[in-house]
Amino acid sequence: MDKILVHGGRRLRGTVKISGSKNSALPILAATLLTREPCTISRVPDLSDIHYMLTILSELGCEVERASGTVQIRAGKILTHAPYEIVRKMRASVCILGPLLGREHDATVSLPGGCVIGDRPIDLHLRGFEALGAVVRVSGGNVKVLADRLRGARISLRSKFGSTVLGTGNVMMAAVLADGVTTIDGAAEEPEVVDLARFLISMGAKIEGAGTRTITIEGVKELHGAEHEVIPDRIEAGTFLVAAAISGDGVTLSRVEPRHLEAVSAPLREAGFEITSHSSSMTLQPGSQRRPLKLDTVPYPGFPTDMQAQMCALLATTDGISVVTEHVFPNRFMHVAELKRMGANIELQNATAVIQGVPRLGGAPVMASDLRASAALVLAGLQADGTTEINRVYHIDRGYESIDEKLNELGASIERVKA
Ligand code: UD1
Repeated sequence: MDKILVHGGRRLRGTVKISGSKNSALPILAATLLTREPCTISRVPDLSDIHYMLTILSELGCEVERASGTVQIRAGKILTHAPYEIVRKMRASVCILGPLLGREHDATVSLPGGCVIGDRPIDLHLRGFEALGAVVRVSGGNVKVLADRLRGARISLRSKFGSTVLGTGNVMMAAVLADGVTTIDGAAEEPEVVDLARFLISMGAKIEGAGTRTITIEGVKELHGAEHEVIPDRIEAGTFLVAAAISGDGVTLSRVEPRHLEAVSAPLREAGFEITSHSSSMTLQPGSQRRPLKLDTVPYPGFPTDMQAQMCALLATTDGISVVTEHVFPNRFMHVAELKRMGANIELQNATAVIQGVPRLGGAPVMASDLRASAALVLAGLQADGTTEINRVYHIDRGYESIDEKLNELGASIERVKA
């Protein structure tokens, strides 16, 4: 297995280009199953999760062609059962259920794997499908959803954690071809849901309210092929902002959507950094003094759970006491034990990390446990004395396009050791 060696102490400076959003691209690629006509999706990042999704689509019978960030897909005649061997590698494979149900009224997928960030049920997705008239069967590790016909319905996707991002997308994809009107209450408001809705609308779907808590979908008879460019990855962008905060002397992100990053920029400003935004770029400059933070992860437009681990890496060396509470995935603190191995002073109290900033971290061998935790370890390594050896880096390749090369272009010293 590949390793990453981060030699700490280098300063970052310059411009980094942000890739297309993984979390937007995955359901959008799945949505191409809704039409027999060809679709062209551009700005698709080159990541292992995307590769899994394209493999699933090929296995289902789609013609898939990929050339430098642009993917052409034609879902002519398709199967409705995704093979376990590929599906198990990625939780987001669950988002083929909605489009297969919508088009074929029949879908079978193995129960999802993916990030190890606590229990990740799909009960809300299934509740949505049932409300549309589907029958759900769970057996032998598979979920099967079947319907004679799908009928529009009023569906609530609220849960004690807020809403569900992929669940909202899944129900939306099933409802676009249902008879009548579907209203989703408690819908996720994330930009990735809006991007998926934009793609579906360009395919001929009738959707209103994406980006708010209530989405209304008027079913249509069929969808047609369309072209779409995926939005910039706000989590990759946020990760580079934190890298710039940790050890930057002025770093600019290009091809970003600053509006999607307000919940990340605001606490970074509060922590003492200067951020200037233009229409599609942002620059972070170090401030005169770093301040600790109180952060709570919540659904969009609040501070994202996908940025929590990276912020912990910054706060680990910020003088004073910071308090970070996870409200979306209460167990998502696997990075804490690894940061402590590097000298961080962090105490976990249920879903809250109390971080007492230390002056410096020291390089150590550490283990990547999930996607964002591994990004946090790279960021910790940038500011550590000596070398940080990060094992199991396949986690980071699931969600960051060439993070080592992009950081090196900014002045970092990161080596990838091939196994
Ligand atoms: C998506 C993102 C992930 C991000 C997460 C929250 C993708 C591919 N992944 O994951 O990076 O961390 O949103 O912003 O887009 N829940 C239920 N029942 C369900 C579904 C979810 O209880 O049926 C709970 C989850 O356990 C969690 C919360 O709802 O506590 C939010 O999860 P959800 O929004 O569904 O996450 P994903 O869409 O899987």
